[in-house]
Amino acid sequence: MSSAGKSTWKPDSWQSLPAIQQPAYADSAHVDRVVAQLGKLPPLVTSWEIEALREKIVAAQQGRAFVLQGGDCSENFDECTSENIVRKLKILLQMSVVMTAGLTRPIIRIGRMAGQFAKPRSADMEKRDGVSLPSYRGDLVNRMAFNRSDREPDPELMLRGYERAALTVNFIRSLIDGGFADLHHPENWDLDFVSHSASAAEYHYLVERIADSLDFFESITGTKINQAQRVDFYTSHEALHLLYEQAQTRFLEHRDEWYNLTTHFPWIGMRTADPGGAHVEYCRGIRNPIGIKVGSGMTDEDLQHLIVTLNPNGEEGRLALIHRFGAGHIDEHLPRLIKTVTALEVPVLWMCDPMHGNTESVTGGRKTRRLDNIIGEIESAFRIHDEAGSILSGVHLELTGDHVTECVGGARGLDEQDLERAYLTQVDPRLNYEQAMEVALRIADRATATRSA
Ligand code: PEP
Ligand code: CO
Repeated sequence: MSSAGKSTWKPDSWQSLPAIQQPAYADSAHVDRVVAQLGKLPPLVTSWEIEALREKIVAAQQGRAFVLQGGDCSENFDECTSENIVRKLKILLQMSVVMTAGLTRPIIRIGRMAGQFAKPRSADMEKRDGVSLPSYRGDLVNRMAFNRSDREPDPELMLRGYERAALTVNFIRSLIDGGFADLHHPENWDLDFVSHSASAAEYHYLVERIADSLDFFESITGTKINQAQRVDFYTSHEALHLLYEQAQTRFLEHRDEWYNLTTHFPWIGMRTADPGGAHVEYCRGIRNPIGIKVGSGMTDEDLQHLIVTLNPNGEEGRLALIHRFGAGHIDEHLPRLIKTVTALEVPVLWMCDPMHGNTESVTGGRKTRRLDNIIGEIESAFRIHDEAGSILSGVHLELTGDHVTECVGGARGLDEQDLERAYLTQVDPRLNYEQAMEVALRIADRATATRSA
């Protein structure tokens, strides 16, 4: 942060700016009590982990690592169960195995987990049969059922969300420390994908190669690889509900910096990326690496303004630009934005979110995404960055370890009729287990193709 910026910034300085997408709480004294209570609870992550992630992002920016960020569009409180956490961790670990083999670079795994509880909405109110109630903004704010008491924003839900985030982080840490993520036994992470999917043979071939390579490394060096390196896993969520983010923002004397200690990697959503708005003001003062969602509506001026505000000293490991244009629009927008960023000479991590620009409605009103468009946007992103001399070093995906039918396409040829079968998301359509593996395999293929070209 610039010294001028530092003197004016505080965890709550965003409150003097226009803050969109915030709940309208009825009882401000109650909100103050909750925020004070949250601020006293122990942090969910540490500054050491955040600094380690920054170092890894530096490697990714330089093309020496690749970020896999993924999880639900929105977590909800009922789904904070051991099965759900294990399945999400498994799919991200499996994908990372495939991608490591193809990209021959370490994969930085970041879950959209342990705090992804708040959602932006297009309208503050929702109307049904003449009744108008506050829109559902995620379990951190209010409840889904369409009645007055459930839709009333309830400050206590910030505490409930924080507790669930803590339970999730705790379980992930135990699984990883307890050997679940031992690289020697990736077969432990198999879900039932293996018996069904068209890509299963390809996956098993990769897993065997990895096990062979580990054995080879260990016999040559005489060290067990898991003593040297353990799988790391980071958490992320959209920094949308600013009171929640502010409450756990702490100044650490020994580092002389402020950190958001609810998550490693907060990101600014597309709707709240106004350079003069509250979300950008909040994020500029914290030391965590920050993601910014970049859509087709982003102007060159706004992007420059955002980069200079959020990374005034041009630090590596600070900013990730997560572009999300849609397969049909990426060619029109990405080259121009790469040019703008390159001209600024501020290092950024380029990531592709191939989900949010490819959402469409089908008959019956369901929202879906086509796997062809998702893979198409990733492939275009690799190509455009190659052509422009920049590096695509990450993907941001909405996915689940379950066999949902929310996105169409893929090896099983899911079509619009299949959406009725297992459409579970309350918000955006997610890749199911097999579709997510297919995306990972295509990313690995694409890297192999680039290397041999
Ligand atoms: C999201 O990531 O769920 C989301 C709302 O994305 P965006 O801000 O890019 O629309
Ligand atoms: Co979403």
